[in-house]
Amino acid sequence: MSINSVEDLENLKKIGSIVGRCLDYMAKKLEPGMTTHELDQIGKSFLNQFGARSAPQIVYDFPGTTCISLNHEAAHGIPSRFKKMKAGDLVNIDVSAELNGYFADTGGSFIIPPVTAIKKKVCDVAMSTMWKGISAAVHGGRINEIGRAMENEAHKNGLSVIMNLCSHGVGRWLHEEPDQIPGYYDKKDRRILSEGTVITVEPFVSTGAKKVIESGDGWTLINPNHFTAQYEHTIVITKDKPLIMTLPI
Ligand code: CO
Ligand code: CO
Repeated sequence: MSINSVEDLENLKKIGSIVGRCLDYMAKKLEPGMTTHELDQIGKSFLNQFGARSAPQIVYDFPGTTCISLNHEAAHGIPSRFKKMKAGDLVNIDVSAELNGYFADTGGSFIIPPVTAIKKKVCDVAMSTMWKGISAAVHGGRINEIGRAMENEAHKNGLSVIMNLCSHGVGRWLHEEPDQIPGYYDKKDRRILSEGTVITVEPFVSTGAKKVIESGDGWTLINPNHFTAQYEHTIVITKDKPLIMTLPI
């Protein structure tokens, strides 16, 4: 969507803050022995108290409130009563939700201690990669500059970006135009960003994988040989720095 009024911005901020705080709250509750279903229920109660509804449920009939992906799973993991988290696990939580017809999307990767060097590195670099991507998103700039900045940051640190998972427009629906914003530099992409446009920036940074595949359950995207971390914010394009909608405030 494009922000056209104060009301648009206020509504987006409201749901952005809810998903941001929900992610933060869920991350703080992580502990060994908890199932991904239990963690998802914590997110569900959090969203419920504000009347926010799970976006993947509304839009895709996803069998959970949030997406929770463990270790070699990169994205869209289904919360499960049979998946118990343990010490050392890399956990990605993706929270997207709707309130008053507005959608915001956020995500992050977390490690349940003890933290290994490789998992810490992939998380740290995914985080810095997201901020590089956000800094490259400006009114009048090309969309492909976001991917260029993110790919450069990952490569500079000896890591890869997943090419078949993208950032996207968001706001009045979970995935909307401009859709398929790559995490790498696509020189053929001639799209230009304009003030008011709402997008996510969500690099998937990996210890070496360039692609994820569907695991066979219809949802979960995995790379069995590598670890992948993702951080995601919903932002509004301006002539200067983007406005971040999904901070936990
Ligand atoms: Co997301
Ligand atoms: Co997203």
